[in-house]
Amino acid sequence: MPTIITKKALTIPPFIVMEVMERAHELEKQGQQVIHLEIGEPDFKTPSCICNAANEAMCQGQTHYTHSLGILSLREAICAHYQEKYGVHVSPDQVIVTSGTSPALLLLFCALLDPGDEIILSDPHYPCYPNYATFLGGKPVFVKGEEKEGFQLDPEQIKKKIGGRTRAVLINSPANPTGNLLSPERMEAIAHLELPVISDEIYHGLVYGRKEHTVLEYTENAFVLNGFSKLYAMTGWRLGYVIAPPSFVRPLQKLQQNFFISAGSISQWGGLAALTCAEQDVMNMKEIYDVRRRYMIRRIRELGFGLPVEPAGAFYIFANAKEFGESSYDLAFEILEKAGVGVSPGIDFGKNAEGFLRFSYASSLDNIKAGLDRIEDFLSHR
Ligand SMILES: Cc1ncc(COP(=O)(O)O)c(C=O)c1O
Repeated sequence: MPTIITKKALTIPPFIVMEVMERAHELEKQGQQVIHLEIGEPDFKTPSCICNAANEAMCQGQTHYTHSLGILSLREAICAHYQEKYGVHVSPDQVIVTSGTSPALLLLFCALLDPGDEIILSDPHYPCYPNYATFLGGKPVFVKGEEKEGFQLDPEQIKKKIGGRTRAVLINSPANPTGNLLSPERMEAIAHLELPVISDEIYHGLVYGRKEHTVLEYTENAFVLNGFSKLYAMTGWRLGYVIAPPSFVRPLQKLQQNFFISAGSISQWGGLAALTCAEQDVMNMKEIYDVRRRYMIRRIRELGFGLPVEPAGAFYIFANAKEFGESSYDLAFEILEKAGVGVSPGIDFGKNAEGFLRFSYASSLDNIKAGLDRIEDFLSHR
């Protein structure tokens, strides 16, 4: 009997940025030197206080499954963090610790979406949001962001998309791929639409000269997704969490028990250290990101890319490249092949993102300078 691959597995779209990266690695194997501005992960090492805490936990035998919701001290530290930073009360019973924000997102969509149910997303968006929803039989419904408004979600446009099958709206501020923040006024208006709000807060803490807000400041009818990958440079540790309304905790816990049992024990002890001892390390990384951000904004504008709104968060710049080509996919690969610089094509992030390129400044200032010099040279000879 032939082995059949499910339609779901066959049709889930790839992560195009990974394809850029894989081609870049091929070129590197052939001896070319590629500068990576496509990557969405910190170039810093995990702060040593986190590594030391994890090492100690491991040596002391904290190497077993944990409670499916996560170790209590970590859940308490997450609640203390939300209390101190935003003044919101969250109970440790509302926190489910997961092996990254990605599994948190998967558990949450499993709990919210039956086949045919709809979820409202912005366009542009992080690529996995619609892919997860579609995989589960749900239907992503897109609200286009306006470039001149930094692609922020507009509450009035969301209202028009709400129907009988709408289950939630998802916000992400600071956002991937744009690096922009949703204004507190808009966040509050979205929170008052009487629709559950999922807020992906993974880039919180990486905000320059502005203040980020959690959705929990405006409503309790919300789910927070967060993780340690970006702020603490812990992508490989695989650690994240969901904060959910009490009635959702038991279903999410059962999903976690079945799919993952618990998040990794050692990572959880590392996460506790991140929340309790890594403040100075985070401040140092943030200062360095900010220097790179300001440099990159200036150079990208000088090169002729469009950037009407200065991105103030995450480590991305999402620039209008329509002047240089209609297909962002072709342009990104041309830049890779001819200039030796990896950038992410906008089309990875939605139809409304076509014609844009995402540049990441999670790379050293020297790399950024060299990469943009190469792009300048490439554009001038085109
Ligand atoms: C917006 C957003 N959410 C979630 C994730 C997933 O992060 P992780 O699974 O590493 O916690 C990413 C990773 O790039 C992201 O950009």
